Amino acid sequence: MPTPSRIAAARALHAVFGAGHRVSDRWDTGLSSEDAGLAQALLGLCLRHWGRLQAYVKPNLKDQSRSLPLGSQVALAIGFAQLAWMDGVAAHAAVNETVELAADPALGFPPHKGLVNALLRRGAGNRQLLRAHLDAMPASLDRTPFVDAVLQSALEPHRAKGKPEIEALWAKLQTPPRPAFHVLRGDAPPELEADPRLAGCWGLREGAPFPGQWLESGAGMVQDRSSQALMAFQWKGNPIHILDACAAPGGKTTSLALRYPEARITAVEREPRRAGWLKKNLAVRAVKAEVVVAEVTDFLANSTGSFDLIVLDAPCSGSGTLQKHPELPWIAGNIDLERLSEMQRDLLRATIPKLDKGGLLIYAVCSWLPEEGEHHRAWVRTAHAELEAAHVWPGEFGAESGDTACFRPQPLAWDGEGFQAFAWTKR
Ligand SMILES: C[S@@+](CC[C@H](N)C(=O)[O-])C[C@H]1O[C@@H](n2cnc3c(N)ncnc32)[C@H](O)[C@@H]1O
Repeated sequence: MPTPSRIAAARALHAVFGAGHRVSDRWDTGLSSEDAGLAQALLGLCLRHWGRLQAYVKPNLKDQSRSLPLGSQVALAIGFAQLAWMDGVAAHAAVNETVELAADPALGFPPHKGLVNALLRRGAGNRQLLRAHLDAMPASLDRTPFVDAVLQSALEPHRAKGKPEIEALWAKLQTPPRPAFHVLRGDAPPELEADPRLAGCWGLREGAPFPGQWLESGAGMVQDRSSQALMAFQWKGNPIHILDACAAPGGKTTSLALRYPEARITAVEREPRRAGWLKKNLAVRAVKAEVVVAEVTDFLANSTGSFDLIVLDAPCSGSGTLQKHPELPWIAGNIDLERLSEMQRDLLRATIPKLDKGGLLIYAVCSWLPEEGEHHRAWVRTAHAELEAAHVWPGEFGAESGDTACFRPQPLAWDGEGFQAFAWTKR
């Protein structure tokens, strides 16, 4: 029986390449922390280097015109990734366990057990050579047209889209991100250290275990650096009624509650499963907010209330999360950008009339694509004269220096997810 970590990584690869699914945030729950560490490293390597791992196998096949069944592709990627890049895994374990995986009809492709065994044994004969060979393959093999479009969009507003910048950003996005944390009460646990460049943000110390129990106690939360910096918007308003229009899993609802403890917060989420997750997170963190499980456009159409602060953290392609989600390049064919962009526009149309005079609206997406950000800003400029840009972020976060109504840090100079956020007040 292969180890749980290899089984989990194989299942996740089947979900991505077989069903086109994203890797869920909870894909490794149930694994011990040691197994989860190995599974995460393995899955990350396979996804980040899927293109070169498959290209490496091809010349070794008798019939190169036929593609391998997915089970064999998965087993070979898992085997070669361990042999090439995971020095802590013994060669015999990498080969034997992976051959067992290949023999499992649900995860491998049993008729290819012998082929997988032969190819991996050959690779195990000289791991250094295997690594050198894989490392020397063109980086572009691991890229798709979606990635190219995202890299261009990320850098274009910063006037830095030359080839060296594009390659530097791709190299950066190919390294696993360091998780960031927000301390909600009490002291930070010893596993964390203060982020010297962002007040209030904490990072995991080198080699420290993930502080799972501390998170479960509600004393802190995982929150990306970008979300933390974005939510530190500088606004002098004192809101009474806040709307978090797209709320689960509740990171921004929590930030709002910490900052405005006297305000009434309405947190809307349309997916019941995610709303359950949101409620649980808010309860354990002792955050007071009214959770509404509804399509926010319906909720707003049927309500007479208005809000003096609205945060619209809209559903999007997630193109700014490439570093955390290396499966994105391979499933991007399923992303319907036009539909997402229309949905975001509808959400803006529904929320703008509900903003009070003098109130603040923040629109945010974790995407660099202009269809999900800049295009909406341009539309607001022409269609909503009652909204004026609100200058709530330091200039260094803008696309251009001094563009303080926009949050969009230069991705080569900033560690954190790619975001586009805009702020307006109502005249
Ligand atoms: C980007 S996530 C929000 C992340 C959240 N603000 C946080 O910081 O933790 C978008 C969320 O909005 C929800 N959503 C998408 N469309 C919605 C709609 N029309 N009405 C309400 N919720 C929606 C999605 O299910 C998803 O949970």
